[in-house]
Amino acid sequence: MTPVEELARRVVDAERLVVLTGAGLSAASGVPTFRGADGLWRQYRVADLATPEAFARDPRLVWEWYDWRRGMIRRARPNPGHEVLAAWAARPGVTLVTQNVDGLLERAGADPIRLHGSIWHLRCWRPCAAGRTAWRDETTPLATLPPPCPHCGGHARPDVTWFGEPLDRTSLEAAAQAAAGADVCLAVGTSAVVFPAASLLPLARQHGAWTAEINIEATDASGAVDLAVRGKSEEVLAEAQRIVAS
Ligand code: OAD
Repeated sequence: MTPVEELARRVVDAERLVVLTGAGLSAASGVPTFRGADGLWRQYRVADLATPEAFARDPRLVWEWYDWRRGMIRRARPNPGHEVLAAWAARPGVTLVTQNVDGLLERAGADPIRLHGSIWHLRCWRPCAAGRTAWRDETTPLATLPPPCPHCGGHARPDVTWFGEPLDRTSLEAAAQAAAGADVCLAVGTSAVVFPAASLLPLARQHGAWTAEINIEATDASGAVDLAVRGKSEEVLAEAQRIVAS
């Protein structure tokens, strides 16, 4: 049996499947990853763009970067990897958990647990009482940078998790619960270095799940999974789906 055949068999047999996705899933859509060869963190400094301190110091600079990324993501389309996962997620017992803020799984028809927020949602930076709840704004480019909070007129911020910030508790609890109850858990296109997202696969394994990784290269998770499939997620998932459907 090939690794992809084994993966497909596990997916078919799974009663509770959890799939954790990362930036590699969207690479084939033209959305840059963070740590790969052309990764964003090779060109930009986290401390300048993705921390609350950076925003406090220079909100316009931070927003210029997010506005640029929003434009790029808007032009992107879901790839076969997103489409296969969306098809699997239509089955009962399948939970998708994503670190991606791009909304491409959603555009493929899925409703993943978003661990790191959404680049298409904004919330008040201060935050004012009404602006604690995020609102959707898909305008790109945004009319003014930084965009104003519609409730108080102060600065709005992207509703994403920055370094040094806690993850949304409800999303993290839902993801951890799904991972702990999974019989199969897959990590797709993630370097598995950012916690707590990276703890979901080991958590699933501790609770008895069969685990696998799909990635073009070895990661921090590779040594701790039952099966490491080397390949592009858009190709591996499409091949697995052909087997699942046959
Ligand atoms: P990374 O950029 O750290 O890792 C992307 C992974 O995808 C790498 O392991 C690549 O080898 C792999 N990869 C690239 N192209 C692929 C393809 N076509 N198929 C399969 N794998 C491929 O991205 P994440 O692990 O998602 O956080 O990063 C986690 C978090 O760090 C992000 O959510 C972001 C970032 O800073 C926040 O924004 C809070």
